[in-house]
Amino acid sequence: MDKLIITGGKQLSGELRISGAKNSALPILAGALLSETPIIVGNIPHLHDITTTMELLGRMGVQLVIDEKMNIEIDTSTINNFEAPYELVRTMRASILVLGPLLARFGSAHVSLPGGCAIGTRPVDIHLDGLTKMGAEIKVEGGYILAQAKRLKGTHLVMEKITVTGTENLLMAATLAEGKTVIENAAKEPEVSDLANFLNKMGAKISGIGTDILEIEGVDQLGAKDLHYDILPDRIETGTYLVAAAMTGGNIRVKNTRPNTLDAVLEKLKEAGAEIFTGDDWIKLDMKGKKPQAVSVRTAPYPAFPTDMQAQFTAMNTIAEGVAVITETVFENRFMHVQEMQRMGADIQLESHNAICKGVDKLAGAPVMATDLRASASLVLAGLVAEGDTMVDRIYHIDRGYDHIEEKLAQLGAKIRRVPN
Ligand code: EPZ
Repeated sequence: MDKLIITGGKQLSGELRISGAKNSALPILAGALLSETPIIVGNIPHLHDITTTMELLGRMGVQLVIDEKMNIEIDTSTINNFEAPYELVRTMRASILVLGPLLARFGSAHVSLPGGCAIGTRPVDIHLDGLTKMGAEIKVEGGYILAQAKRLKGTHLVMEKITVTGTENLLMAATLAEGKTVIENAAKEPEVSDLANFLNKMGAKISGIGTDILEIEGVDQLGAKDLHYDILPDRIETGTYLVAAAMTGGNIRVKNTRPNTLDAVLEKLKEAGAEIFTGDDWIKLDMKGKKPQAVSVRTAPYPAFPTDMQAQFTAMNTIAEGVAVITETVFENRFMHVQEMQRMGADIQLESHNAICKGVDKLAGAPVMATDLRASASLVLAGLVAEGDTMVDRIYHIDRGYDHIEEKLAQLGAKIRRVPN
């Protein structure tokens, strides 16, 4: 397995371009299963999860052609099976997103249950409960979800928890259901809205986009001639590089992003002492060489502070001025990066869902191990400010969600290199 070696101490500066959002690309590529006509999805990030999704759809008989500009043309006219096998689903839980589209358009799906993962048990009970309420017959046998439906029926769903992919699966299912579906307590993440906008471009009738009540009038079929849909820039990638600059006292500008999708993160960076300037599609952060002030955050569904930015802010607090508390309310086990940072000299006390961070003067470089996507990115950030070399192992986690991370950080002046195992 490749490793990343970071030599700390460099102040980041310069400009970089943000890639398309992983958590938009995955549901939208699954949503392409709903289309009778070939479609093109653009601004696709160069990530391992995208490769996995293309393999998953390809194995169903879907034709996918990707070009050098990372546009993917998807043609489902040759689909010949409706299976998502365990060997792929266990590497990418978001594979569950093919369930709704397959059921809605083909009336059949055979999808491996995604296992748990490092950050939590991650059940899909709300996905299955919603589809059952829409008339699907669902059995779970041998680790697989076997789902059948003549035609899904629109209904009134109240989500018992706010779930991003749960909302996305049920939203996609509802587009071809008979009659109207209302999804109350829907997730409002920008990636959910991006999926809804994409589906409407294919002829779906979705209203309430961006709110917690989505209304969908089912239609008989979806598709649009010459549809080319560019996905949303990645707000978590944006936040990750802004935190990297804040930790190193640097001054960077990120472009091809959407400042209005990460207000809560920008507010916390200002609280940490950063000067922030924004335009329609760019953000400039300047720390003027100062160390960040420690900031307390509490994760919650959008538009509150995103759980996917928690590990990065924990990293920033390790060397910030003062004491702060990081509270994780979404996942039950999303502090695995803490013990690795403690090995680098961080002063963090874990108490249930809280990490109490006391800023230290310096971290010491060390060999550390990644456990999940955002935790691994936070260890790279810690390496940027540590004395000496930090070697981050198991970086396949990073390659799932960050497009060319070492090139982008090197572009900003970081001393970082990838070494093959
Ligand atoms: C999405 O995961 C994202 N993944 C995650 O990003 C993100 O951390 C998460 O939303 C929260 O924002 C994608 O969009 C592909 P949830 P998802 O369903 O949909 C519980 C990353 O780093 N729940 O919103 O799987 C669940 O256990 C990844 O890019 C149920 O109980 O998360 C959790 O506690 C990590 N039953 C809470 O809801 C269900 O049926 C929120 O999970 C579904 C969820």
